[in-house]
Amino acid sequence: MRHCSMIGLCYKFNKARSGGFPSPQQFAMWSSKLLSFVLTSLLASPALAATITQSTQLTTQTFDYIIVGAGTGGLVVANRLSEDPRVSVLVIEAGVSDDSILGFEAPFLGPTMTPNTIYDWNYTVTPQPGMGGRVFTYPRGRILGGSSTTNFMFHQYGSSEDWNRYAAFTGDLGWAWSNMRQYVQKHETFVPPPGPDSLNKYLPSNHGFHGTTFLSVLSENQTDIDSRVLATLDALHDEFPFNRDMGGGDHSLLGVGYAVTSGANGVRSSSSTSYLAQANGRPNLTVLINSVVTKLIQTPSTKGLKAFRKVQVASSPGTAPSPGGNPVISVTARKEVILSAGFIGTTQILQLSGIGDSNDLSALGIPTIINNPSVGRNLSDHTQLANVFSVRGTESYDSILRNETAIGAEVQEYLTNKTGLLAGAISNNLGFLRLPRNASIFDTVQDPTPGPNSPHWEIIIGNVYFNPDFPTPPSGSYLSIVTSLISPTSRKSSQSRFYEAYSHSTLIKHILIIRTGGTVKLASNNPFDKPLIDPQFLMTDFDIFTMREAVKAVLRFFGYAAWSDYIIGPFGDLFAAAKDDASIDAYVRGVCTSILHGVGTASMAPVNAKFGVVDPNLKVKGVDGLRVVDASVLPLVPSAHTQGPVYLVAERASDLIKSGH
Ligand SMILES: Cc1cc2nc3c(=O)[nH]c(=O)nc-3n(C[C@H](O)[C@H](O)[C@H](O)COP(=O)(O)OP(=O)(O)OC[C@H]3O[C@@H](n4cnc5c(N)ncnc54)[C@H](O)[C@@H]3O)c2cc1C
Ligand SMILES: *[C@@H]1O[C@H](CO)[C@@H](O)[C@H](O)[C@H]1NC(C)=O
Ligand SMILES: *[C@@H]1O[C@H](CO)[C@@H](O)[C@H](O)[C@H]1NC(C)=O
Ligand SMILES: *[C@@H]1O[C@H](CO)[C@@H](O)[C@H](O)[C@H]1NC(C)=O
Ligand SMILES: *[C@@H]1O[C@H](CO)[C@@H](O)[C@H](O)[C@H]1NC(C)=O
Ligand SMILES: *[C@@H]1O[C@H](CO)[C@@H](O)[C@H](O)[C@H]1NC(C)=O
Ligand SMILES: *[C@@H]1O[C@H](CO)[C@@H](O)[C@H](O)[C@H]1NC(C)=O
Ligand SMILES: *[C@@H]1O[C@H](CO)[C@@H](O)[C@H](O)[C@H]1NC(C)=O
Repeated sequence: MRHCSMIGLCYKFNKARSGGFPSPQQFAMWSSKLLSFVLTSLLASPALAATITQSTQLTTQTFDYIIVGAGTGGLVVANRLSEDPRVSVLVIEAGVSDDSILGFEAPFLGPTMTPNTIYDWNYTVTPQPGMGGRVFTYPRGRILGGSSTTNFMFHQYGSSEDWNRYAAFTGDLGWAWSNMRQYVQKHETFVPPPGPDSLNKYLPSNHGFHGTTFLSVLSENQTDIDSRVLATLDALHDEFPFNRDMGGGDHSLLGVGYAVTSGANGVRSSSSTSYLAQANGRPNLTVLINSVVTKLIQTPSTKGLKAFRKVQVASSPGTAPSPGGNPVISVTARKEVILSAGFIGTTQILQLSGIGDSNDLSALGIPTIINNPSVGRNLSDHTQLANVFSVRGTESYDSILRNETAIGAEVQEYLTNKTGLLAGAISNNLGFLRLPRNASIFDTVQDPTPGPNSPHWEIIIGNVYFNPDFPTPPSGSYLSIVTSLISPTSRKSSQSRFYEAYSHSTLIKHILIIRTGGTVKLASNNPFDKPLIDPQFLMTDFDIFTMREAVKAVLRFFGYAAWSDYIIGPFGDLFAAAKDDASIDAYVRGVCTSILHGVGTASMAPVNAKFGVVDPNLKVKGVDGLRVVDASVLPLVPSAHTQGPVYLVAERASDLIKSGH
């Protein structure tokens, strides 16, 4: 129904705003121009040796560990467990190989590769009541590396306060920042950006230099708007302070600076190109792609608990190399099954296996084996609102993206030298900001952030038309400023309950807001049916208030003199909104989508809590030999883009699994 990729590549024609826009066929034409360059420009990168493409190629059906999902979290665990040559590890991935795909190697092209391609799950959300009942695309990677292959490459760890809140929430100090910070060193190798002003873009003390995934600041030679951003930060520093390092963790996220990205030297670093590539030569690691896990099968109880060590696997629609596809088989784990299928896939597999809310399961004819109403509940996510300005001249990327000759030259430069437009990220600058202390909303609503050094909202500055789910205009140059709600409070139930959680340490005391949040539910008992995803966006006064204030802040930022010779004015819906609070709210509800940071659907909770899907060691409650290691275990969405936090969770999870055996 929607065919719109992120940078100016929209196939869908939105009826509601069709006036004056060209036809869907025209959009499709522009899109396919760029896409055809991307898809036909194959790269000669090394093949992924240990990857098998059909279950018939398996030489055994029994492994020590079986990891479901070769995504961000799953491939960290695969790497760390297979460091021990005495254990065997199988990873099962529904998607295809990421080998030799230019669109995933070149940072700038990543956003053009999903949704509605074979690399995506092609999900949409259910109608969102807080957004005028709108439905929009909800991409998730379906490829080696999962969403780390298809994401926009922004990389932070969240604030230390996020992790201290996770520790307080779970009662496990192992999740506190003082413990988690060690995993930064295992995870990242920061590559300083070239150029004399390199040290204005990052703090060496905030990074690791010997880890697995490459990070950098991919802003070199990218855009002429950087100097305007810096001039604005200088002039408006009380509201928008410059922050020299946007990596989070040890250093405050607050302020605006250069985006840290999961790539270096012009190349994306995904969990596949980093964690898997490093482990690929190990004989005891097998990666099976094109194969979807349809359910877990109950096996004899161990340690007095139910067990699910058998995994049912079918060929993945649209990816099987042979027309007949793979037979349905099952494989068994001697030690553990680890679910790393992401916050949607993991939830779906648990429910298909009879682990979930018994009312929901029985309605679909699935026998309940473990009744746990927390499965698929408490989803929380960040919003994404693209505020578009029209600008003068040809500095913005739009004119290049419309020009076949120019794109061809960029592709050539990238293939030859890994430099130029395609080597850079889609945004150079981003920032994390708080509402003013005296904002009126705090008269009635308690501050939902995990602490005073954590943001309420985010700004991302891109010198191009970027408005997912809305068509790109055929002409003109644009600047797109994404604003995102980072501390959402939306919940389904109208009661808001508060409680204080104290960990056994006196160091960590936090007030936690209980949120019911959104849901991921099965639509049917068919594992190939898409689940119902309902993030419940913008359902509280706080959430709409913060989005509204962010729009006003954007208008202040870009109203500064440094922009006057560049910006013509707010474009499209933003133009109509720049009037009063009511019109801003209507604009937000009418345009906003998701920045795709869902967490919480298989949440951690204290060992004895009556809610939660996994315990603080990530073991599924009431089950032996089954863990979850992906974004779904985070109880609340962190104050950052989510890949960095997922990498840290997976690094610690690997230590927990190893120490448990
Ligand atoms: C388009 C997009 C842009 C984003 N941009 C950013 C960004 O710029 N910065 C950032 O930090 N975060 C970003 N995110 C979010 C971030 O990438 C995710 O939070 C993170 O990668 C999630 O990791 P995960 O391990 O939970 O799941 P994933 O990485 O999605 O891995 C799950 C894997 O499991 C596989 N799988 C699912 N079901 C099954 C099944 N039944 N059988 C077999 N395999 C299965 C999937 O195909 C996938 O490979 C973005 C996400 C998207 C989708
Ligand atoms: C690991 O691989 C070696 C060589 O292929 C094999 O002999 C051994 O049995 C494997 N170990 C496990 C635990 O599978
Ligand atoms: C997503 O859409 C594309 C294009 O229509 C299709 O080829 C692919 O198989 C779809 N993926 C899934 C998981 O349905
Ligand atoms: C959602 O999370 C809260 C804690 O924030 C918890 O009290 C509640 O029980 C959870 N709801 C479900 C359905 O798990
Ligand atoms: C397209 O790009 C080429 C090469 O950069 C340039 O010479 C040409 O003028 C551009 N065409 C248009 C219509 O802008
Ligand atoms: C690659 O870099 C070299 C050296 O800087 C340069 O001479 C050449 O023109 C570049 N190639 C392309 C295609 O941009
Ligand atoms: C930017 O320019 C410098 C020197 O001119 C060069 O070394 C570097 O590779 C370029 N980076 C990109 C991403 O094009
Ligand atoms: C908050 O304080 C600032 C000055 O510190 C003032 O300009 C502003 O009007 C105040 N806002 C509200 C909502 O009180």
